[in-house]
Amino acid sequence: MRIDLLTIFPGFFDGPLTTSLVATAREQGTLDVRVHDLRDWTTDRHRSVDDAPYGGGAGMVMRADVLVAAAESVWNDLPPGEPVGPPLHVAGGERPRTVLLTPRGRPLDQALARELAAEDRIVLLCGRYEGIDERVHELVATDEVSLGDYVLMGGEVAAAAIVEAVVRLLPGVLGNADSPVEESFEQGLLEHPHYTRPAELRGHTVPDVLRSGDHGAVAAWRREQALARTREVRPDLLDRLDDGTEGAAGGSAAPG
Ligand code: 6GU
Repeated sequence: MRIDLLTIFPGFFDGPLTTSLVATAREQGTLDVRVHDLRDWTTDRHRSVDDAPYGGGAGMVMRADVLVAAAESVWNDLPPGEPVGPPLHVAGGERPRTVLLTPRGRPLDQALARELAAEDRIVLLCGRYEGIDERVHELVATDEVSLGDYVLMGGEVAAAAIVEAVVRLLPGVLGNADSPVEESFEQGLLEHPHYTRPAELRGHTVPDVLRSGDHGAVAAWRREQALARTREVRPDLLDRLDDGTEGAAGGSAAPG
């Protein structure tokens, strides 16, 4: 899979792209990531990516001309400044999934991570400033995604979250092929508690059932714990299981 990141802070991604399984996926050739500096598409002396809002008001707005030019170059695999041809031309016809990271977007969840992981390539466009010119929403974004109901200073953290959520789903990235299915959200529930050695730590012991060797009892206990934890912290996830719509994961509801 190929992921293109467009940002005014390319250095932000140095860590996330060279750490852990993302680094491994790149070394394996499973993942081709390219980070682009939006300022490379500016044409003025100050390399401005923002300007004052029409209609007035506080804060600056991200410029559509710069962002459209950048997206168009990346879609067509051309360097900055290379003219692309007819407006919004895309070689091969269709734009790749182009995700604008913005607090007004669809909240990121496991279902969306799976959708994006199924693409050959995705483009992640990181917003900054008070707003983004509406023409970017109209002309560039195929998707608008938020990390949740709070305000960040920009879309970079959200883009890094998408990279992690997507890359771990790519075939061959996780060592154990069926481990994603067990994870939180994949069954529409939060995960059960985990333990490793020692069996006792400062008076806190591992539940006996996990040391019993009874796999049926272990599975039942884990299911029970997952349900209890979900009921406690995320009752909204249970509502979605109950009403027959898919879980937060959008995956198959838990068996049974
Ligand atoms: Cl994607 N961007 C910003 N600026 N704030 C956010 C967000 C994104 N998601 C949640 N809050």
